[in-house]
Amino acid sequence: MAKRIFSGAQPTGNVHLGNYLGALRNWVTLQHEYESFFCIVNLHAITIPQDPKLLAEKTRELARIYLAVGIDPEISTIFVQSDVPQHAELTWILNCVARISELERMTQFKDKSRKQGENVTAGLFDYPVLMASDILLYQTELVPVGEDQKQHLELTRDLAIRFNRDYGEMFRVPEAYIPKVGARIMSLSDPKKKMSKSDDDPNGCVMLLDDPDAISRKFKRAVTDSGTDIRFDDSRPAITNLLTIYQLLTGQPTDEIEAHFNGKGYAQLKQDLADVTVEFLRLFQERVKGIGAEQLNRTLGQGREKARQIAGTTLANVYAAMGIVGACVSD
Ligand code: TYM
Repeated sequence: MAKRIFSGAQPTGNVHLGNYLGALRNWVTLQHEYESFFCIVNLHAITIPQDPKLLAEKTRELARIYLAVGIDPEISTIFVQSDVPQHAELTWILNCVARISELERMTQFKDKSRKQGENVTAGLFDYPVLMASDILLYQTELVPVGEDQKQHLELTRDLAIRFNRDYGEMFRVPEAYIPKVGARIMSLSDPKKKMSKSDDDPNGCVMLLDDPDAISRKFKRAVTDSGTDIRFDDSRPAITNLLTIYQLLTGQPTDEIEAHFNGKGYAQLKQDLADVTVEFLRLFQERVKGIGAEQLNRTLGQGREKARQIAGTTLANVYAAMGIVGACVSD
């Protein structure tokens, strides 16, 4: 069987540096080693209320972002989750395998449902099961994600193991690929919280489509630690977070970075980081603009066909293993 990776991102709000450094960046390198599937998970997005017009726009924008970060549609499959109905179908099957008690333990559900108050949907509760379906349909070996998805990956593995035990060997049990550096990029305004599009303070989060002024302003306002020296140090999370972003965008080793900032102040670090980010995102945004509707349609159309084929085979095997038959099966 081909060694496969699968990953995805939600087309909600805007894609930020945390998404890029924790996940998308690694997809680009891993696509050369694995048969790769990168999904725009629009069915996950509707677990919290979305504006329909905006959701449609953001779905296509995210596909452009996948292409512009360097995912090559000649070697990787890029597709929209709702284009492959097997994702929702397998979710129903896995709902009958998952236990309510294990879904209740999901920390992301607990956090998000607190924010939603009375209006928490059953879909938000079921979110991790849809994610497990995404992954298991493709017999995925590796799932490159940020650290916040680790618990969902553990659930996916548990569901695969349980299904295989109850109905016979069906799913490959996937591993999470969580990078050593960048797995949890923190908010610029509160280094105790992860960078997130739902951050109450918009200055905490640098978006990939931010303009240069916004980027510079956000880094200028970034919270720092007490003290003055600039080095990687877990006890100084704000500076370490800024240095980590700098490290990932420049590709420089940590000792070179520390030597570069030796004797310099926080203002210089913020200025240099803003410069590096502005230049990186300028080139990226140019690529986004260069992707036309035709290229996008072709990529997503090809992706849909390839994904449907594999997902269809897996789902047919699942139905057969469970004794789910329809009118076409003779006695
Ligand atoms: P989403 O859209 O919230 O995030 C996309 C990816 O970005 C990572 N990420 C971060 N990494 C580092 N630092 C941060 N501050 C940060 N914030 C987000 C996330 O870990 C993720 O890898 N549930 C997924 C989408 C999904 C999926 C899947 C992923 C649906 N089905 C199947 C993998 C496999 C999510 O929340 O994406």
